[in-house]
Amino acid sequence: MEKELLKTVYSPEAFRKHGYTLIDELTGHLERTLSGKAARVINWNGPEDEKAYWLEFLEKGDASRFFPEVLNHTTHVHHPRYIGHQVCPPAPLASLAGLVSSMLNNGMAVYEMGMAPSAIERIVTDLLCKRIGYDTQSCGILTSGGTLANLTALLAARKAKVSHDVWNKGHKDRLAVLVSEEAHYCVDRAAKIMGLGEEGIIKIPVTKGFALDTSLLETYYINAKQKGLEVFAIVGSAPSTATGVYDDLEVLGNFSKKHDLWFHVDGAHGGAAIFSKKYRSTVNGIDMADSVVIDGHKMMLMPTITTALLFKEGIHSHATFSQKAEYLLQHSEDEDWYNLAKRTFECTKTMMSLQWYLLLKTYGETLFDQNVTTLYDLGSSFGASIQKDPQLELAVIPMSNIVCFRYVSPSISDVLLNEINLNIRQQLLEEGTFYIVQTRLRGVQYLRTTIMNPFTSLNDLKELRNLVKEKGAAMLSS
Ligand SMILES: Cc1ncc(COP(=O)(O)O)c(C=O)c1O
Repeated sequence: MEKELLKTVYSPEAFRKHGYTLIDELTGHLERTLSGKAARVINWNGPEDEKAYWLEFLEKGDASRFFPEVLNHTTHVHHPRYIGHQVCPPAPLASLAGLVSSMLNNGMAVYEMGMAPSAIERIVTDLLCKRIGYDTQSCGILTSGGTLANLTALLAARKAKVSHDVWNKGHKDRLAVLVSEEAHYCVDRAAKIMGLGEEGIIKIPVTKGFALDTSLLETYYINAKQKGLEVFAIVGSAPSTATGVYDDLEVLGNFSKKHDLWFHVDGAHGGAAIFSKKYRSTVNGIDMADSVVIDGHKMMLMPTITTALLFKEGIHSHATFSQKAEYLLQHSEDEDWYNLAKRTFECTKTMMSLQWYLLLKTYGETLFDQNVTTLYDLGSSFGASIQKDPQLELAVIPMSNIVCFRYVSPSISDVLLNEINLNIRQQLLEEGTFYIVQTRLRGVQYLRTTIMNPFTSLNDLKELRNLVKEKGAAMLSS
């Protein structure tokens, strides 16, 4: 068999050439987007047109134009007017660490396939445990996303709290978890994957301010028990996705202690507040959690996917996927921390610890404090400016960098306002001047923003407010 093509593919010289060109292109992209000089955050194209474009490119396109065209056809998260979903503009150095992971491709399942990243993973997760406030029994893992981390945490919870061995023997009892009705949908999905069914995910209503209503906990718990359900865990959101409101973790922690439940904190978005001196109080009580999820790719300046799952008692991390009974593992905890696939859902995963470690080593924890504090401050200022504006309505006073609001006008019905706000968001998307998203809360359509870029200015936010009002007024008069 000829190997000429393979030799071309692996040519170090070709890599150098493509690499330098790409770095130059990405540098230009960063300059244009960060400065806001790029006119658009997104060059909107409908899905069918986009598919047709790439089919044609496959046939006739110039391969050397591939990366520039990808840049043109994606959402620019480094643009200060990207204020949409909860993925961060990654720190360029962290993206380079991702490139190293892609090239070295150590699979991380066993220690030999990733010596440095396995050791580094332990160091990084130990540091996160410390900042949560855990003692020395704690430990953690890095895993592929908050969704998988929440599932892993609930599997650990079931192993630890349910009286019979579901992992080996299957379901016998009707099991359940308590969770806010505003929790991320992946918690619901995790419970369903675990076979808990609809009745096994008990959704506690939220307060007017969208936090889990802790005054209802006892009633919902007793009702579940009376129905014959074995409740084994409670999940707190820090914060919830739609509104960015934190649940009262202290109350949830005390409740879980009282009833011997596993307490899991989904801090995928805002667990990073453990690093903010100013906003640390939003996660008061997080140290009571048996497990905590924090996404590096949301508030911690890292590219996808860089999720940490931390356990108060490290033994539970070792027991999650173990075939053996928990007590047999008690003495092996420290022996085998470096063979990571024993504790992760994945077999192969990326060397995601590199991103965490490199940012810590280069910039220190102050970077995380600065980022979270800047973004939450912006959320608060944006919220205050909306509150003062009679043509806009805030869904709830922001506790984080997630701000939901809508265009309003006196004596216009909610049905029409819903339609107007939907159209405002669609117009913004298609024009590409801002990228924001949307959410529906208690039947009301809101524009949803997450300020992820520390260089988004108050002026950007003012222009967004003005544009929303302009569009709203134009739609009303047309
Ligand atoms: C609170 C919360 N939990 C979990 C997730 C899912 O995390 P991932 O997207 O990393 O799977 C999200 C994503 O937005 C979230 O906001």
